[in-house]
Amino acid sequence: MLVLGLETSCDETAAAVVEDGRRVLSDVVSTQVDIHRRWGGVVPELASRNHIVQVMPVLHEALTRAGKTLDDIDLLAVTSGPGLIGALLVGLQVAKGLSLATGKPFVGANHLEGHLLAIRLLEDAPAPPFLGLVVSGGHTSLYEVRDYGNYRLVGRTRDDAAGEAYDKTARLLGLPYPGGQPIDELAQKGDREAIRFPRALPGDNFDVSFSGLKTSVLHHIQKHGVPEGQALHDLCASFQEAVADVLSKKLVAAARRLGHTQLVLCGGVAANSRLRALCKERAEERGLRMFLPPVRLCTDNGAMIAVAGYEAWRRGLRGDFRLAADPAWRME
Ligand code: KG4
Ligand code: ZN
Repeated sequence: MLVLGLETSCDETAAAVVEDGRRVLSDVVSTQVDIHRRWGGVVPELASRNHIVQVMPVLHEALTRAGKTLDDIDLLAVTSGPGLIGALLVGLQVAKGLSLATGKPFVGANHLEGHLLAIRLLEDAPAPPFLGLVVSGGHTSLYEVRDYGNYRLVGRTRDDAAGEAYDKTARLLGLPYPGGQPIDELAQKGDREAIRFPRALPGDNFDVSFSGLKTSVLHHIQKHGVPEGQALHDLCASFQEAVADVLSKKLVAAARRLGHTQLVLCGGVAANSRLRALCKERAEERGLRMFLPPVRLCTDNGAMIAVAGYEAWRRGLRGDFRLAADPAWRME
């Protein structure tokens, strides 16, 4: 079954052709970061307008690179939530339009389910049940993936998402948006123990909190000024350590308490080098298997939406022309 996945929920216009929910034939991502960078974050209205410009060329490119035409496609999968409403509407209306024009079926896919199931595109992929930590710009949520379509939220951030903490900290440091990658790169040459930033591990549960960390970075800067040179490397490394420490601890603790042996990290922040290393290290110490998607599958892409759409289709979900975009769609 050939699925064309379409993703426009935030600031990436992306399309991919995936066979049987496992094999990527093409995966095209057009990012808008250069447009939003000057505003220090995603401007929803600009995002929607640019999706309109990019969506057809990106779809066309995905089909061309796969060596396919629309005729060959069996199912159109499109992100219908969660995300920015105007941005979601672009993808959804395109999918409906193509479905109407070609007679091909379409299905609405959940963006978070896409992140969680992107790991299916690895050859050595875990089958459910597994524990999946989605860490992105908008979400930091821990899910028990009991089966496809059967998800239980077992922990989440009480305030900022991990990616948001990265982006806000980068802004305080005068680094470009999105801040994850620049901080990750600067941290490579820094001392992780230079500054002991606070770790919020709220209670005996699997929730996390990052607003205190962000405030602590702010206080540090107010006291010492915006760091430069080695001090900047050290601050980035220390901040990164605080984020990775908390997330990896909670993930492993949840696995042990809930009896999971397979762990998955996903979402844009799963591209982070220290978070990957620490999760792997702590999981392996306890005999757990840590699955890490390659970086291109961590950040938003169309292939993960094709997988989520394929699985939704297999469990009987069908899109119809009344399907509405749901900016706050909760998967559980
Ligand atoms: O999943 P994603 O592409 O979009 C959302 O659904 O939000 O995630 C984007 C987030 C941004 O906050 C970005 O700063 C963060 O992922 N990110 C990283 C890294 N690469 C991207 N955070 C930490 N380290 C990275 N290497
Ligand atoms: Zn995402």
